[in-house]
Amino acid sequence: MSRQRSSKRSGSKRSELDHYSLRAKKEGYPARSVYKLEELNSKFRIFNRNSRILDIGAAPGSWTLYCLRKTAKDSLVAGIDLKDLTISKNDARLFFIKGDFFDEKNQSELLAKGPYDAVISDAAPATTGNRTVDAGRSFSLAAGIIGIAGLMLVPGGNLTIKIFQGGDEKELVGMLAEIFETAKIFKPKACRRESFETYIVGLNYKGSDEE
Ligand SMILES: C[S@@+](CC[C@H](N)C(=O)[O-])C[C@H]1O[C@@H](n2cnc3c(N)ncnc32)[C@H](O)[C@@H]1O
Repeated sequence: MSRQRSSKRSGSKRSELDHYSLRAKKEGYPARSVYKLEELNSKFRIFNRNSRILDIGAAPGSWTLYCLRKTAKDSLVAGIDLKDLTISKNDARLFFIKGDFFDEKNQSELLAKGPYDAVISDAAPATTGNRTVDAGRSFSLAAGIIGIAGLMLVPGGNLTIKIFQGGDEKELVGMLAEIFETAKIFKPKACRRESFETYIVGLNYKGSDEE
């Protein structure tokens, strides 16, 4: 009986995975993660057709490709990742750096292409399997991105960052609330049920006092 229940559970989990993975394959995206961005954007309008977008932690490239498909012919999608993109880079609107976002030289190159209307980050740290350690690494990554986002964003711009839930996500939302008009936390349905990732969203960057 209990075996039946458990196989029913894993069966439905598998079909949920299949739904997003098959759809991604059919639509030409390298990863099912694209549907998290689709949901985030339809809920919060993080970017529109005319937005200039910076995608941090862009590989293999589903979010980048989605942004390229959803923005106008004269838009810009800049991306950075430690790994290379697997999508075609044959689009004049795409600027990609293979490297670490926290490297100052890379930041200067990204800044030179900015500022951006939207900064989106699906960046994830190397995981250890230890939830506390992984959540701590994710917190540091997200806090680092929030610290630099102001440099990259236009006033009125929007920020979305993936984080691993570990109890400190409210602190990150608090950091966002200081520099954005609105700060939210939202877990898209497309996140795997067993995953402890979620997303924090800052809308309407207030701008720096020095400007
Ligand atoms: C979940 S994947 C992103 C998936 C991507 N959004 C997509 O839809 O194809 C997370 C990525 O974050 C990248 N990453 C983690 N730390 C980074 C850093 N400091 N600088 C740049 N990329 C980083 C990893 O290399 C990894 O490719």
